[in-house]
Amino acid sequence: MSLLSANWTALFYLIAAACFVLALKGLSSPGTARRGNLIGAGGAVLAVVTAFLSEDMDHVVPILVAIAVGCAVGVPAARRVAMTQMPQLVALFNGVGGAAAALVAGLELTLEADAGGIAAAAGAFTVLVGCVSFSGSCVTFAKLQELMTTRPVTIKGGQYLFGGSLAVAVALAVTVVVQGSDGQPEAWTLALLALVSLLVGVLFVLPVGGADVPIVISLLNAFTGLTVAASGYVLNNTLLLVAGTLVGASGTILTRLMAAAMGRSVTSILFGAFRPSTAVMAGTGPERPVRSGSADDVAILLGYARKVVIVPGYGLAVAQAQHTIRELAELLEARDIEVLYGIHPVAGRMPGHMNVLLAEANVPYEALKEMELINPELRTADVALVVGANDVVNPAAKTTPGAPIYGMPILEVDQAQQVVFLKRSMRPGFAGIENELLYDPKTTLLFGDAKDSLTKVVSAVKAL
Ligand code: TAP
Repeated sequence: MSLLSANWTALFYLIAAACFVLALKGLSSPGTARRGNLIGAGGAVLAVVTAFLSEDMDHVVPILVAIAVGCAVGVPAARRVAMTQMPQLVALFNGVGGAAAALVAGLELTLEADAGGIAAAAGAFTVLVGCVSFSGSCVTFAKLQELMTTRPVTIKGGQYLFGGSLAVAVALAVTVVVQGSDGQPEAWTLALLALVSLLVGVLFVLPVGGADVPIVISLLNAFTGLTVAASGYVLNNTLLLVAGTLVGASGTILTRLMAAAMGRSVTSILFGAFRPSTAVMAGTGPERPVRSGSADDVAILLGYARKVVIVPGYGLAVAQAQHTIRELAELLEARDIEVLYGIHPVAGRMPGHMNVLLAEANVPYEALKEMELINPELRTADVALVVGANDVVNPAAKTTPGAPIYGMPILEVDQAQQVVFLKRSMRPGFAGIENELLYDPKTTLLFGDAKDSLTKVVSAVKAL
């Protein structure tokens, strides 16, 4: 016998749904994100407890064991993951969500006699899209974790193979619906649908490479939301419908925003690899001289400037140099030098990565300028100090059609009087392509780990 009446269940689900909406609202600003996260987690706990109390459940022990195993794997993984590896963790969690929704819907359809045509359609959709989301997310994880190449993988005739397997998956989904309307879908049809959909997911993500992987993660996240919403229909659970729709909608909005930040359409991101690239991949051209300098050289450039724009990127996160960069900025400000930070929307490896890092070091929000605001400032800057950034300042985005980042709006550091790059080597950024700005006569390279280099520059500025 269930412990909660239908009315109480509906009320608790409504409160949980409100928590999810408030969580999204909170997550939209760094200042309220932590609270938003806690509210969302609270809503999820309430939803799970309500589900337990409102149903007359069988198999409680295996369910509790499954929850314990999930917690034992998930909690340490989330605690231990480095900030720079967050996108791959999100990809993995997202994929597991899609797979769970597909499994639940598939089982429900095979166990429930007379599901009916609409429930069978929702179930078939959940299995198809959930499996695409799972296998696609596994491939994005492997790419971001560098377990495989991050470049686009194209197979000869890949687009036909993808189109063909998608058509087979849709045909199997229709078969499930037909069987479901007439009684019960056959287990073999559902199993075959799941297998072909897994293949579709792999073929969907393999050709996406380099800088575009995070956008696909966001898109797959939206897919998972839709599968959860559809499984809510199959299970007759309104909260799953609401939560899934929220994830689907927010994932779609994030996908569009990120694509816009890269100056690309979602279609060109997904299918662009089938067109030939004309970009010079790093390390394939002849060796050329660059101007490298010492910490003292950089300190002189910075210490006698009037305006300095700092451009942080992924390397700042790797080096954990956010506190040292703030120290340097404060030293320069004490010398009456104007210091601004140029923040590119896809700098680093996750949306808002640089904002989070710099907020952690208490850099004031007003000093952080988005791309549209900082580009005019760069034209009047004496020095652009690029700390561990590469793709987001690479002029190939404007000059090299066919480059993986072509069309992405960039921070125009080449407009500053002098450009200083802090990086460890001549290795390229995430997109793997050559950056001509490194060879520009007005560029000085200070080689080394960003934190070490900045520490030396701080000492040298103090000694000026
Ligand atoms: P990248 O283009 O990846 O360049 C990072 C630079 O940091 C490299 O030049 C690297 O050169 C340097 N670096 C790495 N570790 C360093 C260290 N310890 N000290 C000093 N330098 C270090 O970074 P970006 O300019 O921030 O661009 C981000 C790229 O990632 C874009 O292509 C973007 O599309 C993609 N991406 C973005 C996201 C989101 S949503 N933000 C997610 C995934 C991917 P060395 O190795 O020579 O030091």
